[in-house]
Amino acid sequence: MNFTHLQSKIKIIINSDSFSVNQRLTKICEVLQSTINYYDWVGFYFANQEDKTLHLKAFAGEETEHTIIPFGKGICGQVAVSNSNFVVEDVSAQNNYIACNIHVKAEIVIPLFKDGNNIGQIDIDSNTPNPFTNKDEKFLEWVNEKVATIL
Ligand code: SME
Repeated sequence: MNFTHLQSKIKIIINSDSFSVNQRLTKICEVLQSTINYYDWVGFYFANQEDKTLHLKAFAGEETEHTIIPFGKGICGQVAVSNSNFVVEDVSAQNNYIACNIHVKAEIVIPLFKDGNNIGQIDIDSNTPNPFTNKDEKFLEWVNEKVATIL
């Protein structure tokens, strides 16, 4: 996957001041989900530090009932406390995993830092087994750095 073209699209969305932050986050989810064939669901969760939960703020793909996830629960909740990327080749091999739908085979969650604090994450589900490489990680880290500039 060549991410260069996508990066320029994302920069344009980030700089679209006429849209709210939420609208821009949704557009980023949509462009990622519609461009990369193994990105089947893309969402941004943000942390509520008071009650230690993650809240879904924007997404593209099927509706999910998991709009609030406690820290520590599932792949997302684990990243909220580990501050590290989590790449899951095969979700069926995970015992702390929250299934969103039966088609999902793999998942990648990359924390989003603002001023050094882990304030949220981008979460991607794939219906393709083991599709994510180091290039996805680097690209999604870049996406999160761009998003942090508008938060
Ligand atoms: N699978 C995630 C839950 C969120 S859904 O993928 C949208 C998890 O285990 O945290």
